[in-house]
Amino acid sequence: MDVFSRDVLVVGGGGAGLRAAIAVAEANPRLSLAVISKVYPMRSHTVSAEGGAAAVIKPEDSFDEHAYDTISGGDWLCDQDAVEAFVKEAPAEMLQLEHWGCPWSRQPDGRIAVRSFGGMKVERTWFAADKIGFHMLHTLFQTSLKYDALQRYDECFVTRLLVDDGRCRGVVAIEVATGRIFAIAAKTVILATGGCGRVFPFTTNGAIKTGDGMALAYRAGAPLKDMEFVQYHPTGLPFTGILITEAARSEGGWLLNKDGYRYLQDYGLGKPEPKPVLRSMELGPRDRLSQAFVKEQEKGRTFEGPYGHYVHLDIRHLGEELIDRKLPFVRELCRKYVNLDPVKEMIPIQPVVHYMMGGIHTDIHGATPLPGLYAAGEVACVSINGANRLGSNSLTECLVFGARAGRAAAGFAAEQKESNPAVFAQASDEQKRLEESLLRKTDGKERIASLREEMQKTMEACAGIYRTGAALQQAAQDLHQLQERFHDLRLEDHSYTFNTELTGALELSFMLDVGEAIVASALARRESRGSHQRTDHPQRDNEKFLAHSLAYRTPEGLPRIDYLPVTITRWPPGQRVYGK
Ligand code: FUM
Repeated sequence: MDVFSRDVLVVGGGGAGLRAAIAVAEANPRLSLAVISKVYPMRSHTVSAEGGAAAVIKPEDSFDEHAYDTISGGDWLCDQDAVEAFVKEAPAEMLQLEHWGCPWSRQPDGRIAVRSFGGMKVERTWFAADKIGFHMLHTLFQTSLKYDALQRYDECFVTRLLVDDGRCRGVVAIEVATGRIFAIAAKTVILATGGCGRVFPFTTNGAIKTGDGMALAYRAGAPLKDMEFVQYHPTGLPFTGILITEAARSEGGWLLNKDGYRYLQDYGLGKPEPKPVLRSMELGPRDRLSQAFVKEQEKGRTFEGPYGHYVHLDIRHLGEELIDRKLPFVRELCRKYVNLDPVKEMIPIQPVVHYMMGGIHTDIHGATPLPGLYAAGEVACVSINGANRLGSNSLTECLVFGARAGRAAAGFAAEQKESNPAVFAQASDEQKRLEESLLRKTDGKERIASLREEMQKTMEACAGIYRTGAALQQAAQDLHQLQERFHDLRLEDHSYTFNTELTGALELSFMLDVGEAIVASALARRESRGSHQRTDHPQRDNEKFLAHSLAYRTPEGLPRIDYLPVTITRWPPGQRVYGK
């Protein structure tokens, strides 16, 4: 087997991964560095981000306001030291991106334009029309190309972390084009592989977001934190799950039920005003808006279509000129995917799984409890998002904590000696496992698609917007059975060239582990907070649950849940007040 060696290896070529890689190259140009990604970096899911990235820029705003909005939006489950670092470092990261070439939208006088997003008291979302992900990723990618020390392994799928003597020491991967299995020994590994929305059937997440990094870390002994907190974005296009950005509501879009009524006024989110009012109605936080949709559905006030219940997002009153200037992608998506023009017609929308607040437990430098392993971006849980992330904080999180993880990993790598030869034996074991259990296995009767569909249905039924202990208990059993059935998988493609059946099987196996961690964490949290609403435990319980859940994988392969206190610096738990 080929074995390569790098000082720092970044897994994932999206926003957090590329920002981390740039930070490593800048912190210590003598370090050898690589980015390995299962897709070409410009195809990473960051590219699909639409609405913008949050950072204080207006004179009437402040770090404390940004911190408070984030913490109250997160229902006080955010670690406040992490939030304070985040809000302070955010503006410099955004300006840095500008200097690297990101074309932020401008006001007529040339200053940076910002828009409001849900749950904010002051406008602070920087944007590039409604295509920020494309511009941000392009900016980071082109910047990364200037570092000679950075080598890339594109379209290589990481299957295992190599751990020896209590330290992460590299990875095993498959080159998708050739099926070649190889190892990269690394003094430090940074996971930046994004989230796991594909564990659910209806999601904004691209097909690549299968929780790979979360499962890799979990299997290697690092805990997954706050996995019960799954964010539903209120405005997804039925059937496709394509996101209709919150920017449409920020510009003044309305949510209307089947009676043409702005129903959010019935849910403690303020009263209708001619212009959007911050923290009110359509600019309330995502958890509250998604929960209101379910209540409307229960009252029989939603439309019923071939792809489930929906309501309308109406942006017609914004006018064609504004829509084309600030929301061109919304218009393009509606025309292409639902065959309607939002300048003239209302858009059908329904809540859609969008983001994981939980992820690999890290400290504020991106370090996981496993020495040598770092994580940043959606795969990680540094705990700035708590129980409900505010829209537009996540791209900024990729920048701030990608850079932090890169700098910390560079420092760690510089202190390490040469890599440990014990990992080579582990790498060969992994090669054997892949070849024997998947590539050469000809028996088995289970199919990837059926297991995946059953897993997704189970997750939606038990871990959606509202949950109960009984449904979660059932789901834990069902997922366990799916894990058993996975061993009886049949693969028909035994070739080595672009074997997407093999990568599909590996992704399914990662998703089953992540799904189990979500369900076990949700079952153990007997309270309602942010995006985790238990109808059998409807109140927030700060006595017992002002704590992060930590899911550890037991030797039997099942999750074990533990808790960690939340770090409170200056903002003790209070009420979440919107609509004023
Ligand atoms: O609606 C949006 O544009 C989503 C933004 C986000 O999740 O941060």
